Amino acid sequence: MQREDGTRPIVIDETPGKKWYCQCGLSQRLPYCDGTHKHHDVGVGPIAVEITEPATKAVCQCHRTQGPPWCDGSHRMPDE
Ligand code: FES
Repeated sequence: MQREDGTRPIVIDETPGKKWYCQCGLSQRLPYCDGTHKHHDVGVGPIAVEITEPATKAVCQCHRTQGPPWCDGSHRMPDE
């Protein structure tokens, strides 16, 4: 299985509650973790976040953000 390295964030209208955002890129229900990381030697798991109020969120998919799981615009920067 190949890791999905998206180039743009997934923008969602998030609802309150605890959410687990995929950091391995293998989930079939991005941006959320579906447990797939447990079956692969990827060395990362989801980031758990408590959402306290409804909000539009941009979830990083390029894996270069400095503030995971949220997009910080790093996908717009050229590769080093
Ligand atoms: S499936 Fe990617 S972190 Fe769980």
